[in-house]
Amino acid sequence: KRVGVLISGSGSNLQALIDAASDPAYPAEIALVVSNKADAFGLQRAAKAGIATQVFDHKAYPDRESFDAAMDAALRAAGCEIVCLAGFMRILSRGFVEGWAGRMLNIHPSLLPSFKGLHPQRQALEAGVKVAGCTVHLVTPDLDDGPILEQATVPVLDSDDEAALSARILEQEHRIYPKGLALLAGGAVRIEGRRALTG
Ligand code: GRF
Repeated sequence: KRVGVLISGSGSNLQALIDAASDPAYPAEIALVVSNKADAFGLQRAAKAGIATQVFDHKAYPDRESFDAAMDAALRAAGCEIVCLAGFMRILSRGFVEGWAGRMLNIHPSLLPSFKGLHPQRQALEAGVKVAGCTVHLVTPDLDDGPILEQATVPVLDSDDEAALSARILEQEHRIYPKGLALLAGGAVRIEGRRALTG
């Protein structure tokens, strides 16, 4: 399956997907990387791997719908069948999300449904939880919602600050995002109500 990856920054999750897809047995290939930031380091990772990139500056569009429509057209022109959000820091319009229903994944650095939105690692520290983690889920119009494909946990240590906890979670993100994409691309995902069954 051809996959488009949307990024805004470092792209370490993109790198994990690129690395996984370098195995010929992996059921997905990264066909296009889209960024809303021209200076996103992930664009360099893509170029190094020989993957096409496109930048859409959201500030150059009059509204969210036209920005999303431009990205949507590029993804479809590249033959993408699945979209992965990997540190893409723009809210997507309902129309865009509905156009990729069941075919768009996100990674979020918390154990959803806890700590949706921005700075989930900070939210976890402030809440005093002892276990944190990350989630790969299908994207629905509600933010950080949608059926869960993969989760991983990490301990929260007394000595943690936001950076230390984020780094521990990020390692797990890199492990579970390729697993979640493989499940979806391999046709292993069945939706029952709010649940994604992957067995
Ligand atoms: C990750 O923590 C991801 O879960 C979050 O943004 C961060 C992106 O990191 N939504 P990277 O760009 O993949 O390195």
